[in-house]
Amino acid sequence: MKHKLFEPYTIKNITLKNRIVMSPMCMYSSDNQDGYAQPFHLTHYESRAAGQVGLIITEATAVLPEGRISHEDLGIWSDEHIEGLQKINEGIHRHGAKAGIQLAHAGRKANLRDEIFAPSAEAFSASMKVPTEMTKEDIQRTVEAFREGAGRSKKAGFDVIELHGAHGYLINQFLSPLTNKRDDEYGGTRENRYRFLRETIEAVKQEWDGPLFVRISGEEYHEDGNTMDDFIFFAREMKSQGVDLIDVSSGGVVPAAIDPYPGYQVTFAEQIKQGADIDTGAVGLITSGNQAEEILQNERADLIFLARALLRNPYWPKEAADELGYPLEGPRQYTRGW
Ligand SMILES: Cc1cc2nc3c(=O)[nH]c(=O)nc-3n(C[C@H](O)[C@H](O)[C@H](O)COP(=O)(O)O)c2cc1C
Repeated sequence: MKHKLFEPYTIKNITLKNRIVMSPMCMYSSDNQDGYAQPFHLTHYESRAAGQVGLIITEATAVLPEGRISHEDLGIWSDEHIEGLQKINEGIHRHGAKAGIQLAHAGRKANLRDEIFAPSAEAFSASMKVPTEMTKEDIQRTVEAFREGAGRSKKAGFDVIELHGAHGYLINQFLSPLTNKRDDEYGGTRENRYRFLRETIEAVKQEWDGPLFVRISGEEYHEDGNTMDDFIFFAREMKSQGVDLIDVSSGGVVPAAIDPYPGYQVTFAEQIKQGADIDTGAVGLITSGNQAEEILQNERADLIFLARALLRNPYWPKEAADELGYPLEGPRQYTRGW
């Protein structure tokens, strides 16, 4: 039997040894509230690389201090952050895995002491702060911060950049009519709502010619939100700008009850893949090798992103390989137990 989960995947100059991706997960562990990587981060990411994950995408990393989700987020808003991120990458690369970074700005979902910013001055919920509506200068400054973040990511040795355009964070707040109430060229039509992401991608590309992913929420769980037709429009725009892969998640734009089930977001990845003819990543309650193989072999997505399954078991790739009867090589030191 073919084992697509363990087939290499090449994008631009990078070849992943398999299709298993560690999905970005905030660890809220920058304990000194300064955005620096801590010993915990080194162990956390290197152990998943030892577990034979093909691509490890580190957690949402803030391009500006006011773009953090919490005070304990990782940051990349200064050159001083590069060294810690470089150490994470060395650990990941030691095991033949590739390293990605998720560049992020939380917008109105920043849970911080200081002023927060968003496309429009509306809070996410009654318990969250009301953000300040971004001026054109704020927008420019933020786009520039993504550009600088991309330059620092390159210096830190990352192989892939993923822009966080999902879960109701800043980029998503511009894209969605539920959160973008602007009447200037950044709001209104979907072309205008896309403008912030367009400028961000253009800025990132000034510094970065490697693989570029964008994570989006492919369903907003609200009747007035973006539709699949809108997401396919955004995906085509991203493709024409040179984005290599869309990592398709869902939700988080407005408070909404979601009742998840195995693979509940795969259909969004599949529709975007077919509608925009672009590679996609599937994520969300994917827990077994057989489930991953079904998604890949039916060409519903190109990469499999796993979050909680990898928190439970850093050796998930070994578990999936055993399930699929694939002879996965492990770290030399672990041969006797493999
Ligand atoms: C602890 C934790 C932190 C997360 N942080 C992020 C994040 O930083 N960026 C992001 O895009 N998604 C984040 N997510 C969402 C996951 O990447 C993933 O999309 C989601 O958990 C569904 O996948 P799963 O069913 O395999 O866990 C987080 C999820 C968890 C459990």
